Parts: sequence; structure tokens; C-alpha cells
Amino acid sequence: MTTDKVDWKTNEKLAVGKGATTQEFFATVGLNKLQTDVAPWGEGHLKINGREIAHIDGAKDRRQAFRDLDKMAIRYLAGLALKPDDKRKPSMIPPVKAKLLEGKRGLIVGIANESSIAWGCAKAFRAFGAEVAVTYLNDKAKKYVEPLARELEASIVMPLDVNEPGQMEAVFQRISKEWGKLDFVVHSIAFSPKDALHGRVVDVSRDGFLKTLDVSCWTFIRMAHLAEPLMRKGGTLFTMTYYGSQMVVKNYNIMGVAKAALECSVRYLAAELGPKGIRVHAISPGPLATRAASGIPEFDALLDKARAKAPARSLVSIDDVGVATAFLAHDAARLITGATLYVDGGYHIID
Ligand SMILES: NC(=O)c1ccc[n+]([C@@H]2O[C@H](COP(=O)([O-])OP(=O)(O)OC[C@H]3O[C@@H](n4cnc5c(N)ncnc54)[C@H](O)[C@@H]3O)[C@@H](O)[C@H]2O)c1
Repeated sequence: MTTDKVDWKTNEKLAVGKGATTQEFFATVGLNKLQTDVAPWGEGHLKINGREIAHIDGAKDRRQAFRDLDKMAIRYLAGLALKPDDKRKPSMIPPVKAKLLEGKRGLIVGIANESSIAWGCAKAFRAFGAEVAVTYLNDKAKKYVEPLARELEASIVMPLDVNEPGQMEAVFQRISKEWGKLDFVVHSIAFSPKDALHGRVVDVSRDGFLKTLDVSCWTFIRMAHLAEPLMRKGGTLFTMTYYGSQMVVKNYNIMGVAKAALECSVRYLAAELGPKGIRVHAISPGPLATRAASGIPEFDALLDKARAKAPARSLVSIDDVGVATAFLAHDAARLITGATLYVDGGYHIID
């Protein structure tokens, strides 16, 4: 039975308005009963005579999912195979049905590549329905970040090197102009000059100390300052820290000092901004093999120790960190603020 058009009818009884409703369509072609359902996040199914013929989950939205399934139905009825290229490239954003952060908009700073903790966060925020703006360090980083920004459907993608005067302000100005508000910021950057990071704390130069604290701590305070006027209805600020702030971790050195200052900043910012409904969190992931981590000597030993000692007997992934962070941006977490949340399989509670 070939046809070049399927006359789909919708199920009037189902809600079809905006929101997370799945919409169903039915058609009869000859003796074949066709049924599709499509969800707003781009997932859909095609059934013919009760048997599932296709399932897609990488479409941009409900309309695109519907168009793809319609084409597949026509091909199937014509006796043509559903070619592998009829199935879309799987999305990098996990399919999550509960769009718990729909309507929220946030800035994510610190994506360098697909291993970045910031990328894990961006994926989770997007999967839960939030809209994100992202930044890249410089032209060299742009080619790695741009494809990820496209996956995120980020409408704002801007350069941000916190050492370049005016770039941070420009990012917040653009957000103010285009969005007029901001619901969350993820600060996931850190830097220390090699000789400062690799040396003893007792030997650190003034310049090494200032550069480390400037990029790794002060920039978070500055982002909070710039975000405050855009968070008129409240919001959530996140920064990434590490256990080396609390305990002397071999090779973490001056970065431990910076992270201690960062965690302390989180407490002061939480106290100052709390009355405005702005919550502030430090997220403390267990060790993850990222580019920043590659600057820490003997990092593999740190990974082995974490895997062996953590109660969960497992290393964390950037997705684990992302989902935990996204949860804290939800209104359900409205009375949680000022703390350091460990996403480390419980490592920090073990002697
Ligand atoms: N990887 C780990 O084991 C681990 C564990 C706990 C906490 N963290 C923290 O997580 C955060 C993210 O690091 P990551 O591990 O994802 O590594 P990463 O290399 O993927 O990310 C670090 C980011 O910092 C950015 N950055 C550095 N200097 C900058 C500057 N001058 N201006 C703007 N951006 C700059 C880089 O461009 C990069 O995007 C850091 O704060 C890090 O200390 C990492």
C-alpha cells in the first residue's frame, strides 16, 4: 500500500496546549491503522497495526518529531526499509520527560570541551528544560565549545576570558538586554600559574597567589555582583570547589587555599543575597579527569584513591555533578543555601 500523504487526525480528547503533554495522532491507510505520539522534547513513536515501527528521541521539538515519523510512515507503507539515516543522530542531551526547570534561564561559564564539569551541568539544565547561555575562553576554545552550544540550542554564546577587562560585564549586559532576567549562574572555572600550583604553599609568589585567587575565587564574587540585579525574583548561583579546601590533598597546594576562600565566599554571599531569594552553593565533586585536572601531578593516583575509598566505590561523572546541581536550581530546593554539597560518592566522610 503506497501513499505520498497520510491524513493524520489528532485525538481531540487529549490536551494539546503548551507544556509537557504528549500528543497523539491517528490515521487509516487502506487496512493499516497508524498511530504516532510526539512529546514536546522531540521524542516520538510510530505504531502500525499496534506494532512499534519507529522510536525517535533526537528531534528538536514536537513538530520535527511528527514530521520525521510521518516520513517514516510513508516509507514503511511503500515497503521501503527505514534507513539508518532516517533515525536522527542521538542527542547529547539526555531525554528527560520532567521539564522541571522549564522557563528558567541561566549562564554557564567553564565549558572547554565534552569532559568539562560545566558541560555536565549544561546538559542537565537543558535536559530539565532550562534555557542556557554559554561562554568560551577565546578563539582557540571557540571551535570546541560552539558545537556543544548548538546541542544546547544556546541563544547566547559569547567569549569570556575573565582576565580581559569588560568581557564579563558584556556577557551580563547581553543577558540583561535579551532576557531581562537570570535564574541561575554556574561558575565552573579555576586557574593557577604552573609554578604556583606545582610549588609548596609556603613558597608561593605574590603574583602566583593573586592570579590563583583572582580567577578561581574573585570572579565568582564578581559574577554574583553582576547577577544580583537580574535576579529580581530570586535565583541560584553555583561554583565548583574541591575537598582540597578542607584537607591537605597532595599536589593540590595553592588551589586548596583558593577553594577555601571560594567556599567561604559562598557563605557570605548566601547570607547577603538570601533575603532577595538568591541562593548560593558550592558543589564539591570528587576527582574527574578533565583538562584542568591534567595540570595536577599524579592525578591518576587521586582517582584510584577516590574509587577505592569512597563508600559508593565509584568515581563520579560530569553527569552526576550536573544533575545534582540542576536539582538545587529547582524551587523544591528553595531553603537550601550557603552549603558545600559533595558529589563524591561519600569520600569526604571517610577517614
Ligand atoms: N576535575 C576535577 O577533578 C575537579 C574536582 C572538583 C572541582 N573542580 C573544579 O571544577 C571547575 C571546572 O573544572 P573542570 O575540571 O571541569 O576542568 P575544565 O578544564 O574543563 O574547565 C576549567 C574551565 O576554566 C576556564 N578558565 C580558566 N581560566 C579562565 C579565564 N581566565 N577566563 C575564563 N575561563 C577560564 C577554562 O576555559 C575551562 O573552561 C574548576 O573550578 C575546578 O577547580 C574540578
